[in-house]
Amino acid sequence: MNAFDLTGKTILVTGASSGLGRQTAITASEFGATVVITGRNPERLGETFRLLKGEGHLQLLADLTIQTDIDQLVASLPVLNGVVHSTGISDLSPARFITTETIAKTFRISFDASVLLTAGLLGKKKLAKGHSSIVFISSISTRYPFVGGAMYISAKAALEAYARVLALELAPKGIRVNCVAPAFVRTPMLDETAANYSQEAVNMIEARQILGLGDPVDVANSIVYYLSDASKWVSATSLVLGG
Ligand SMILES: NC(=O)c1ccc[n+]([C@@H]2O[C@H](COP(=O)([O-])OP(=O)(O)OC[C@H]3O[C@@H](n4cnc5c(N)ncnc54)[C@H](OP(=O)(O)O)[C@@H]3O)[C@@H](O)[C@H]2O)c1
Repeated sequence: MNAFDLTGKTILVTGASSGLGRQTAITASEFGATVVITGRNPERLGETFRLLKGEGHLQLLADLTIQTDIDQLVASLPVLNGVVHSTGISDLSPARFITTETIAKTFRISFDASVLLTAGLLGKKKLAKGHSSIVFISSISTRYPFVGGAMYISAKAALEAYARVLALELAPKGIRVNCVAPAFVRTPMLDETAANYSQEAVNMIEARQILGLGDPVDVANSIVYYLSDASKWVSATSLVLGG
């Protein structure tokens, strides 16, 4: 038996219409998981759905900044063995331009959405007891910050702190909670950063990363480790990816 095999596990992936979420859903399906994917954009979510291997998968639209969407999503879900939280927005706000709106906009999707979805899943008993796994996507920038990243990085740091508490609360139920903290990866989010900031800044980031820019599959493979029984003795950790 391959400890990384996900056969028999049902995994929810948020942010699955793009980037890391899309690749994680595809890779998890290749490892045998039944995958429930969610996102806002129906065309892009449908494209991910078509790329999934095997059968029995589900796609459900939801805006995770809207509580009624979270409630409907939770109600539509089967019992899960894993959840991967991969929603997020690219956000660069120099400290002197930060307003109440900037804080709310970033935290609503990068922190609140994952926390409220988790509360809904636990409240409705949608996570199977024993060998289940929750994975949050943080960022290496919580350790190696970048100028303009105050809100983005603060939200990720908050998410990592939340994950460690959640790991304590859920350990008695056999539910593990971990984070991956990738360096910059080639996804639409990086293109957005290049467009909003500058290509030069992205080139500088690439030069600074000792293993270069990541590929989404590098992140997805690490997440498969956390979803699988290969990590059944691992909780409350955060794995830095990209050196
Ligand atoms: N790319 C990197 O270099 C990198 C590095 C470290 C960490 N991360 C983190 O990894 C995660 C995924 O990043 P990515 O690069 O894959 O980004 P991406 O390609 O821009 O994808 C973001 C995903 O979030 C979803 N999303 C955004 N707002 C949403 C909302 N209100 N409700 C529901 N879904 C929403 C998007 O769905 P729709 O498109 O359907 O709206 C999309 O599927 C993020 O948390 C990011 O901070 C990324």
